[in-house]
Amino acid sequence: MSLIRKIKDYYKRSKTTLFTTPSHSQGEFIPPLAKKFLGEKFYKCDFSEIEGFDDLREPKTILKELQNKISKIYEAKSSFMLTNGSTSGILAAMLSTLKENDNVLIARNCHVSVYNGLVLTGAKPIWFMPEYDRYWGIYKGIEANTVEKLLNEHQNIKALIITSPTYEGVFSDIKKISNICKQKEVLLIVDEAHGAILNFSKNKEKSALQQNADLVIHSLHKTAGAPNSCALLHVSKSSKISTNEVQNALNIINTTSPSYPLMVAIETTVLYLNSKRGRQKVQKLYKEVENFLKSLPEDIEYYTGNNDKTKILLKSTNINACAFADILNQKYKIEEEYSTPQAMLFITGIGTNNQKLNKLSCAIKKIAADKKLLKAKSKESQLLQLPTVKYTPRQAYFMESNLIDKQNSLNKVSGECITQYPPGIPLILPGEIITQDTINKIKKDKIKII
Ligand SMILES: Cc1ncc(COP(=O)(O)O)c(C=O)c1O
Repeated sequence: MSLIRKIKDYYKRSKTTLFTTPSHSQGEFIPPLAKKFLGEKFYKCDFSEIEGFDDLREPKTILKELQNKISKIYEAKSSFMLTNGSTSGILAAMLSTLKENDNVLIARNCHVSVYNGLVLTGAKPIWFMPEYDRYWGIYKGIEANTVEKLLNEHQNIKALIITSPTYEGVFSDIKKISNICKQKEVLLIVDEAHGAILNFSKNKEKSALQQNADLVIHSLHKTAGAPNSCALLHVSKSSKISTNEVQNALNIINTTSPSYPLMVAIETTVLYLNSKRGRQKVQKLYKEVENFLKSLPEDIEYYTGNNDKTKILLKSTNINACAFADILNQKYKIEEEYSTPQAMLFITGIGTNNQKLNKLSCAIKKIAADKKLLKAKSKESQLLQLPTVKYTPRQAYFMESNLIDKQNSLNKVSGECITQYPPGIPLILPGEIITQDTINKIKKDKIKII
């Protein structure tokens, strides 16, 4: 039975009076503004572990059935619903596989949650920097031979963590990387937060789950149309990681009161994506983005690397991308995901329609045609250097620290993680030496040092 069905049935049949959380009593009390804005249904489907329902911490009935259904759809050994985003999935993936002092190979362009996972687990990071595309100002995908070389250089690596596709949609060679990891008995964790619809597309780019990564994390809110915080964590069929270990780790990270409205959103999103209509919708999105790209004027370039086509990365050959984005914001009321001097990133997903894409296309054409605009060429982007590490993130996190002026922090050890959002990749972590380059990139005036 579906979760929605179960909730509807509850209202039809149950005569029980609940003295349980949540305290709005299934919408008996709703702040008037919320009632007007969100509606009653959001509250009506919000429960806790009442008789006949289930417990996400140890699912046995309706939630277990639902997670099993999701894992069948994704062709995984097991899948877990997350109501606190991929962030919680990444933390749980690390907690279920890494112990204190385990060596873990990590691509430095990982999301900030991976760094927080290092504080929680005490695992020792071995960083590597993916190649950088200076022209577009983005990290390239990770090649299998890079991984092979690193695994030959470093012994006793427990796991490898990479992001694929990246924020900008760039894929790594997961198939070959997972083969190498299997040969070397290294666990492969893929942050596929941006790739939740890959399993439902006919395109050649496949999900890491179909390419034998061990643990794969999906944000359903990023491309798949679910509300914020809806996400999934999957254990692949070929993985030796046990479902139990992952459940135990999730029970450390997760709230004990998972949101039923969000679980309903997860259920309906996955079932929709898996339906004929859903699969057609995914293909339609790719087609519409392709048509959008074809509609762009000559002096607008788009990224054509090995990337997920839901991400649109553009630059003008004449106008600096940040200046271009400012005009889009101010004159045309169009907001991009983020822009750098090299490129503007526009994120599309299930909710993106042709109308939106046409509006963007028209605005871009008008800006590109305006000869009065400053012809400021894009600067080449400067790549972050691999940091010098004095302490592991966990050691540093628990040390005494104090705030000092940024200008006096050169060569001191950072006591905090400073992240640019988007894309959520840290500039510096606790335990790393602060360089002039970091000082130049940090926007705030004070830095915590150890
Ligand atoms: C690559 C990547 N991984 C993980 C996350 C975290 O996802 P969530 O917001 O679902 O917690 C993000 C969010 O921006 C991300 O870009």
